[in-house]
Amino acid sequence: MTARTSDIEKAAGVLRAGGLVALPTETVYGLGANAEDPIAVARIFQVKGRPPSHPLIVHIGGAEQLDDWVEDVPATARLLAERFWPGPLTLVLRRGRRVPLEATGGSETVAVRVPDHPVALALLSAFGGGVTAPSANRFGSVSPTTADHVRAELGDAVDFVLDGGPCEVGVESTIVDATAEIPSILRPGGVTREDLQAVLGFPLAVPTSSRVRVPGQHPSHYAPRARVVLVEPEKVVAEAELAQELGHQVGVFLPPSFAGAPVTVHAVVAVPGSMAAYARGLYGFLRELDQQGCDLIIASLPTEEGLGLAIANRLRRAAGPRPSSVPGLQQH
Ligand code: TXA
Ligand code: MG
Repeated sequence: MTARTSDIEKAAGVLRAGGLVALPTETVYGLGANAEDPIAVARIFQVKGRPPSHPLIVHIGGAEQLDDWVEDVPATARLLAERFWPGPLTLVLRRGRRVPLEATGGSETVAVRVPDHPVALALLSAFGGGVTAPSANRFGSVSPTTADHVRAELGDAVDFVLDGGPCEVGVESTIVDATAEIPSILRPGGVTREDLQAVLGFPLAVPTSSRVRVPGQHPSHYAPRARVVLVEPEKVVAEAELAQELGHQVGVFLPPSFAGAPVTVHAVVAVPGSMAAYARGLYGFLRELDQQGCDLIIASLPTEEGLGLAIANRLRRAAGPRPSSVPGLQQH
């Protein structure tokens, strides 16, 4: 889907005036502001309910603009940018002077990416600068993959929602710390570890949960309202039916091996066999089960290869301890 030229112009005008624009990307919808406007950037944190120490991604229009935003780019970072941009890869590099500390949570590094979406690229071109954007959801909840998700969750808090249709990838970008010649994965995402390794020619470690100050690394992130419980794939049906009998409104993520099996629970999502389709649908499935009134979601982890690594990461976080159990921090 391509947005109308008048919508692109309007969105660029909102950014220039210091407003917030929800914009489509290939991964998820972002909540965008002029990256060089500290007041507009501060509003993002306010609308999301996100602590100001959690850094944002600066979206730029092309790899050739990289040096306008960062300094000291190692050769490996340049290689990754050339190979994967536009695309779902975010590079963390040394902050250039154009980037205000408000956007980086006070850090001397900045996360940068070129989104692979015609509407996002048209907006970046019309606007002319960088657009800093986190996912367009409230802190801790599920990322939006349609314009309707954004409207439902943020409503009037956004000045303009640019509708570019449903997101193709469906999970967020892969974040790579590229400040050193040997990069490392901070968050698995749309570009697979295998793809990165094929370009780099050496293996990359799977991220552990305790390395960096990435809010996606709070165990509680990417969570729907319903509690998510992960079980072994072969136990999904039995556990779901048991929980339903015990009085829960259960939503189940039915693995492809159970396709078509009758399950007596409140709601059923048939998990797609292809990891690309699963990633594309994941956040929509979680939202759907919330909407259907489920209080418990039973799911299992896919094999952690290719996009399965990012899907498993998001499911684990959805199943993690909730921020609502921390006094003073509201999840929704
Ligand atoms: O696909 C995506 O990455 C989407 C779309 C909108 O581009 N954006 C997104 O943004 O997921 P957000 O803010 O929800 O997640 C960005 C992650 C955060 O976990 C943040 O901590 C991390 O990037 N990050 C940003 N700057 C960083 C930095 N300088 N060092 C380490 N991590 C950083
Ligand atoms: Mg997010």
